[in-house]
Amino acid sequence: MKRLGRGAVLLFISVLFLTGCRGEDEALGDSRLYDEMSGEGEGDIIIGFSEIGSESDWRRAHTESFKSTFSSENGYYLLFEDAQQKQENQLKAIRNFILQEVDYIVLDPIVETGWDAVLQEAKDAGIPVILADRFAEVADEELYTCWVGSNFYEEGERAGEWLMNYLREQGRGDEPIHIVTLQGTLGSSAQIGRTEGFHKVLLENENWIMLEQQSGDFVQAKGQEVMEYFLDTYEDIDVVISENDNMAFGAIDAIQAAGKSCGPDGEIAIISFDSSYAALDCMLNGEINADFECNPLLGPMVSDIVRKLERNKPVEKIQYVKEKYFDTSMDLKKIMENRAY
Ligand code: AHR
Repeated sequence: MKRLGRGAVLLFISVLFLTGCRGEDEALGDSRLYDEMSGEGEGDIIIGFSEIGSESDWRRAHTESFKSTFSSENGYYLLFEDAQQKQENQLKAIRNFILQEVDYIVLDPIVETGWDAVLQEAKDAGIPVILADRFAEVADEELYTCWVGSNFYEEGERAGEWLMNYLREQGRGDEPIHIVTLQGTLGSSAQIGRTEGFHKVLLENENWIMLEQQSGDFVQAKGQEVMEYFLDTYEDIDVVISENDNMAFGAIDAIQAAGKSCGPDGEIAIISFDSSYAALDCMLNGEINADFECNPLLGPMVSDIVRKLERNKPVEKIQYVKEKYFDTSMDLKKIMENRAY
């Protein structure tokens, strides 16, 4: 059933969920009410978007990008589901979208594995699935239409290369460098890519010693907790690799509370990922050394993909977003003037 009268279908299913056994006439009566309330226009493209949660500043900007792009003004009706960091909630949301016969499913998978069965169900129902931000490793790549997001491996590798040059410039290219890593959610593309990319450069530098890597789940409070543990456990930490900005904020608090200093003039260098406005501000304050961008504003790119699919145009299977990095040698004030997130 393509678009026409979709509000009635959506409502009928919702009403069945709510009441269990009401008559069809009653339900259709409510459907008119639903159409008026939802603002769904006939011909709107219905998008079911399964978002991971709201663990970071990045995530909030990402959600906002989808909500503002997939608006009724732009010809969409968005069913948004926040999975609150649980894969099982994402699986439920996708099954619900299938039941509601949405036109497209957009999935940001919390971890890479465990999606084959549900994506097969979407395929069997004829609903295209677009993966955004994180990736899903499935046996059959026909289970998703395309993926759009960051090259997380490259981000990690570039962070390692930046550190190598920075240490050389400081005349510390050969001295033992003690590193700890605050990892993101284990098994997520952002964690896997950043950890592996940095690890490649670590292997090229025999004097770098990875003391420990532990997950702070991309969350500030957990980042702080893990950093407190690192500071209690290791006397000499030279570098913190924080796999996102919010964990870096937690690390800064932990370092300062322990009476130590961080940033270009401090005892501990911090390298982070995301390059949110708040992190650039920390860099301006001399608390973070370098930050590798991860662009959360994927809504318009996904909308372009949908529009192409609507016209039966081909879309590229894998689409990387262009990204930069920032450090304290740059004119951060100027950069921040136009920063969108
Ligand atoms: O998947 C992107 C990552 O997830 C971002 O780096 C992080 O901030 C977010 O929570």
